[in-house]
Amino acid sequence: MTSGSSAHDVALEWPDGHEERVSVAEDEPILSAAEHAGVALPFGCRTGACATCTGKLLDGRIEHTRPPRALKQRHRDAGYVLLCIAEPRSDCRIAVGADIQAELVSNPWR
Ligand code: FES
Repeated sequence: MTSGSSAHDVALEWPDGHEERVSVAEDEPILSAAEHAGVALPFGCRTGACATCTGKLLDGRIEHTRPPRALKQRHRDAGYVLLCIAEPRSDCRIAVGADIQAELVSNPWR
């Protein structure tokens, strides 16, 4: 439902160049809006705890509706967001896909 709240244009960008644009209301998590639009994104817990839904904000502003527990502060500082609990506050561009979560895990062997 988008009643009464404004919607923002959110561009979801995959590493292979694929892009989807989804209209997301200010009171709707980006993950849910993408699902309603038929765009499949990885997710797990839907509560900000697992990081499966991680994306990277390239442009625009979002707000997490609850603490993004799965992200370390340095990840948040670097622009990573949890799409299951992220609502847009402006038009956004977000890098998405399973590779983004992989970026969070530092490789202990190098
Ligand atoms: S689905 Fe688990 S943190 Fe978003």
